[in-house]
Amino acid sequence: MTQSFTPRPLVIAPSILASDFSKLGEEVRAVDQAGADWIHLDVMDGHFVPNISYGPDVIKAMRPHTKKIFDAHLMISPCDPYLEAFAKAGCDHITVHAEAGPHLHRSLQAIRALGKKAGVSINPATPASAIEYVLDLIDLVLVMSVNPGFGGQAFIRSAIGKISDVRAMVAGRPIDIEVDGGVAPDVAGQLAAAGANAFVAGSAVFKGGTLEAYKTNIAAIRNAAADARGEAI
Ligand code: DX5
Ligand code: ZN
Repeated sequence: MTQSFTPRPLVIAPSILASDFSKLGEEVRAVDQAGADWIHLDVMDGHFVPNISYGPDVIKAMRPHTKKIFDAHLMISPCDPYLEAFAKAGCDHITVHAEAGPHLHRSLQAIRALGKKAGVSINPATPASAIEYVLDLIDLVLVMSVNPGFGGQAFIRSAIGKISDVRAMVAGRPIDIEVDGGVAPDVAGQLAAAGANAFVAGSAVFKGGTLEAYKTNIAAIRNAAADARGEAI
């Protein structure tokens, strides 16, 4: 597939949600060493999503264990009262859900004002058009390919078409297109061909539970995506 603009770099972002929480620092160091580009941090509040994970203090504790980008995915509502805490905890990207409140534009302005990269995530039932009026305020779009709240769910295939729609909308802008949920080597190629450049993976990275397994798992996703992008591996 030809692209009329320079593709964004290929990024693999392991989701710490699938790691062993009893040794978070060690797990962060392991995926860093195994080839992660970003560390994806899933924050859940038991209100916007039906699960609770961790907050800024736990992220702060992970921060000294890697220099890689901390890619925070806030599945919380409201989000505005907590943005500063996540910025101070060391998050580099702060992504909020378009569905999480009535003032998405304000939330994105607030993230940018904190000096962080701003992302918008859209649930499986939310159309790509939800980002149309915030394109000037975002650095990243996170397309959910599962209903947020839990790792280990089956990939929802309609995300592929939605990624194509998002790519058409952001074309030419310096905006990463990230996909999250059920991502594994078997779908990474189709997702890359549709326009995703950043791949979040929890179960598909942490299965095996060893550094060697993480290396193999990350490489498998990277190779599938790179192949579809026509890049040498
Ligand atoms: C789901 C989270 C995902 C999740 C991905 O709400 O946003 O990041 O941890 O896990 P897998 O790759 O197992 O679907
Ligand atoms: Zn996530």
